[in-house]
Amino acid sequence: MTSQNYLCELFSLEGRVAVVTGGSSGIGRAIAGALARAGASVVVVARRESELAATVDELAAEGCRAAWVSADLSTRDGVRAAAEQAAEVFGEPDILVNSAGINLRPPMDELGEEVWDATMAVNLEAPYLLGRRFGPGMAERGFGRIIHVTSQQAHRAFVQSGAYGVSKGALESLARSQAEAWSPYGVTCNTLVPGFVMTPLNARLSSDPEKVAALAARTMVGRNGLAEDFAGAAVFLAGRASGYVTGQSIFVDGGLSVH
Ligand SMILES: NC(=O)c1ccc[n+]([C@@H]2O[C@H](COP(=O)([O-])OP(=O)(O)OC[C@H]3O[C@@H](n4cnc5c(N)ncnc54)[C@H](OP(=O)(O)O)[C@@H]3O)[C@@H](O)[C@H]2O)c1
Repeated sequence: MTSQNYLCELFSLEGRVAVVTGGSSGIGRAIAGALARAGASVVVVARRESELAATVDELAAEGCRAAWVSADLSTRDGVRAAAEQAAEVFGEPDILVNSAGINLRPPMDELGEEVWDATMAVNLEAPYLLGRRFGPGMAERGFGRIIHVTSQQAHRAFVQSGAYGVSKGALESLARSQAEAWSPYGVTCNTLVPGFVMTPLNARLSSDPEKVAALAARTMVGRNGLAEDFAGAAVFLAGRASGYVTGQSIFVDGGLSVH
């Protein structure tokens, strides 16, 4: 067996279908690109059409199979519609990545029901509803990969974790519950845990050079994260190689969480 065949057996996503929420920006976009370049047909889901189209155009120009669905994942109806439209493009997905997220962080005293509801809807309920829609089919077909993108705040409170931290903590629990339910049928469910990654989500923080440098100094690698840092871990978790890895939180954070 050539090394290329061996690597393909472990990591190739040829013939797989992936749905990536938040796949038009930041970490989700990098993951969508990685899965598509590894051979999967990828549907990216988010609201803004221009970003979605730009993502798909970039991938198509490289010869990848990609498509987009514009949907608002902050309502249950929006999530349901997104799921049906996404499954229509290349068929029922083998891989579901939940990267869409919002980051509203008022001080705890000012944290109102609106922020709480909006945060839970996008960061927690949408992943739950999409898992409920696609997980049983994956189990029936004997193969599936569910990957949630969580946060350091799922594990520890800092810089006003608020509702955001609660939603990400619950998302990690959701991964474990899904893993418990579906792993016996070939469906693994894991989370990727970023550190501080320079994306539009934290534009306010990334525009403060002192804070950016201080955060970089807290990592072991010595720099903040880039969306591209998630490519390898995502391909691993999406493919055959990770079949015995389930219910886990994989930290892709340059060592930020270790000390
Ligand atoms: N960047 C970091 O340092 C960091 C750290 C820890 C965790 N994370 C997590 O990583 C994930 C990705 O974050 P990112 O940094 O890549 O952020 P980003 O660049 O802002 O991307 C967020 C994505 O989610 C989509 N989205 C947001 N609200 C949506 C809605 N209601 N319906 C559908 N799509 C929606 C956005 O597209 P539209 O706006 O067009 O809808 C966009 O594609 C998030 O879950 C975030 O919590 C990020």
